[in-house]
Amino acid sequence: MTDLQAVLDSIHKELAPRIGEGKVADYIPELAKIDANQFGLSVVTVDGKVYNVGHAEVPFSIQSISKVFMLTLALGKVGEGLWKRVGREPSGSAFNSIVQLEQEQGIPRNPFINAGAIAVTDVVMAGHAPREAIGELLRFVRYLADDESVTIDDRVAKSETQTGYRNFALANFMRSYRNLDHPVEHVLGVYFHQCAVSMTCEQLAKAGLFLAARGSNPTTGHSVVSPKRARRINALMLTCGHYDGSGDFAYHVGLPGKSGVGGGIFAVAPGIASIAVWSPGLNKVGNSQLGAVALEMLAARTGWSVF
Ligand code: DON
Repeated sequence: MTDLQAVLDSIHKELAPRIGEGKVADYIPELAKIDANQFGLSVVTVDGKVYNVGHAEVPFSIQSISKVFMLTLALGKVGEGLWKRVGREPSGSAFNSIVQLEQEQGIPRNPFINAGAIAVTDVVMAGHAPREAIGELLRFVRYLADDESVTIDDRVAKSETQTGYRNFALANFMRSYRNLDHPVEHVLGVYFHQCAVSMTCEQLAKAGLFLAARGSNPTTGHSVVSPKRARRINALMLTCGHYDGSGDFAYHVGLPGKSGVGGGIFAVAPGIASIAVWSPGLNKVGNSQLGAVALEMLAARTGWSVF
């Protein structure tokens, strides 16, 4: 039986000299202020044991990792009908790329690139005021993490609202193809707030535990999705969770995962554990540089790769 705490401690020790590598996201001014010299890692096993190292209890902006939770809500609302609005193929393009949207008539490639996530948010908003939709997402994440202290960082949401030119372009483009039902400002209002959810590695690993445990959270007893749906969400994370870095992440780490420009990566070892790592410095495709290295070390030392 692997001593997980020893594995986490050894990863932290070996990576210590490299903490600060990469470049913090600066296209969202509020994220540019984050100190790059931070590193946290949390593993929660399906029997509920929590293993932490480094800054695992410091909240950070989960950014695109929120797309996993919004996707789960959207599938719960409309089921497989979701796939009329968004595809399931890797894009091979940057997370905020617009080129495929025109070539593919306003249907984004997958729910994890920005355009796809904006369409997913639009689906969750059906029948709700924007404020209710973001409330639903926040309640869901708190319920999953079993922690009422999860919050939204309004400064990050405001900062992105002021500078999210690309997302406005993507959303307007989709609206022109009638693939958004709600006004662009409303959909992006919800989207920017979901990206601004602030969580610690420990909270994030706990919130995602249902994806490691066939759709149910074994510690709270909450049944979240069916085993089949959990498998499918994991498949999407494996193929699309790191944008044009998805192949490389599968090659090096071999686990379904979802990254965010806040420097977080959430990953799943199916049947074993959920994992969250955070280190704000990003590589050139916008994924946490050290986070990916740490996950590669963790997968190698535990044998958790799905391959
Ligand atoms: O929409 C954006 O650009 C950000 N709120 C989220 C992007 C993101 O996290 C991409 N991840 N690597």
